[in-house]
Amino acid sequence: MLELRSLCKTWQPRQGEIRQLLQGVNASVQPGQTLAILGPSGSGKSTLLKIVAGLEPLDSGTVWFDGKDITDVPPERRHFALMFQDFALFPHLNVQDNVAFGLVEQRMAKVQARALAQEMLGRFGLQAFAASRVWQLSGGEQQRVALARALITRPLVLLLDEPFSALDAALRVQLRAEFRSHIAQSQMAVLWVTHDEAEARAMGDVGMRMEAGVLQPLWSA
Ligand SMILES: Nc1ncnc2c1ncn2[C@@H]1O[C@H](COP(=O)(O)OP(=O)(O)O)[C@@H](O)[C@H]1O
Ligand SMILES: [Mg+2]
Repeated sequence: MLELRSLCKTWQPRQGEIRQLLQGVNASVQPGQTLAILGPSGSGKSTLLKIVAGLEPLDSGTVWFDGKDITDVPPERRHFALMFQDFALFPHLNVQDNVAFGLVEQRMAKVQARALAQEMLGRFGLQAFAASRVWQLSGGEQQRVALARALITRPLVLLLDEPFSALDAALRVQLRAEFRSHIAQSQMAVLWVTHDEAEARAMGDVGMRMEAGVLQPLWSA
């Protein structure tokens, strides 16, 4: 289980007053469960995901996973995957190598990583694009590639930061069910950040609202 305990984070612009980005955030997510976090722009959602990923330090509070305090564990040792709102795929690599990337980074042999990536592309219906550059794909296809790339390393926790925000409304609705079924096949704890209420309801077993750095329950499992 992923547990966030009393997370506090401030930020001080070079000029101006200290801002409270997170004000005592508490939450827990079970394996196989998705927590949807809904909230307006600037409320601290991305800050929270970066902290859970280990990319940003906290002022106070602790992050726990499987009963262990991982607050000081570096990102590469957490086995968490983060999917940003812009796709953050590598333009210089083809689709297959984008998906294989995390495995190669973990020192798997390239041949084996590519074979697993090919299998993953099959699951996502993307085999035909293996040799394409990511920028040749549509927005929806790129988002599928990004999820495939996140899932291939079998992360313990999946963090998605407004994954559909660059897509049109019809495609967002279509991808919900698809992403849900891919996610359901693993036993990850998932944090799904969005400012779209319908999407939060569709994706979240549990829902919470972030408002000015305060996270409050909306609905429970
Ligand atoms: N290092 C930084 N540089 C600039 N702005 C920052 C920095 N850290 C935090 N902020 C501010 O923190 C606030 C919360 O941001 P964020 O977590 O991205 O909110 P959300 O994802 O909900 O839109 C924003 O208003 C942003 O300006
Ligand atoms: Mg954000």
